[in-house]
Amino acid sequence: GFLDFTVLDGYVGYILRGVSVTLLFSLVSALGGLVWGTVLTLFKISEIRPLKWFSTVYTSVFRGTPLLLQLAILYFATPQLIGYDISPLMAAGLAFGLNSAAYLSETIRGGLMAVDKGQREAAMALGLSYGTTMTHILFPQAIKNILPALVNELVALVKESSLVSVIGVADLMRRASVVQAETFRAFEPLLLVGAIYYVLVLALASCARLLERRLRVSD
Ligand code: ARG
Repeated sequence: GFLDFTVLDGYVGYILRGVSVTLLFSLVSALGGLVWGTVLTLFKISEIRPLKWFSTVYTSVFRGTPLLLQLAILYFATPQLIGYDISPLMAAGLAFGLNSAAYLSETIRGGLMAVDKGQREAAMALGLSYGTTMTHILFPQAIKNILPALVNELVALVKESSLVSVIGVADLMRRASVVQAETFRAFEPLLLVGAIYYVLVLALASCARLLERRLRVSD
């Protein structure tokens, strides 16, 4: 017939092991992006001109060029120029973390702006320092505002992480290519991997909905 899934016999385990690679990679990139994105946000809202300028240009450049290009620059170009050794996984994590931080810094800033001005004024009136106001008053409320957006970012990373297959990281997408090369069948491994991505994304999306509902209740 047209589709013959028995060609996948003996490869299913190999493909499924890509799930943890894809998920772990996406999670680590998201966490790295969250940390660096938070720093970029602090730069953006600071009064220090060079920091403001840096984070604005950074965000613009990382959002204005293809992620695949950024990956290639980190993995192929800069090692050639400066002569360092970097594993595909490290290069990929770095590229995705740096890229995600650009998107997240805008998200976080939006979340901070959405916190009622009275909160900041009250904290200042109480004599709280800038640091305490940020970490104890403003950031917790901002994080709550943007939790759904953070899950969306994770969804984006799970899908975009398929790009890392081009530099040889053994993620889901890469494993589909390997099976394709060994079985000379493209549709079956691609369909299986596609179904897995879809299930992962649907699962994350339902987590986001659940989270959103919980937060609305606690309001
Ligand atoms: N597809 C985009 C690109 O090639 C990357 C998007 C990354 N998105 C994100 N929210 N981290 O540039």
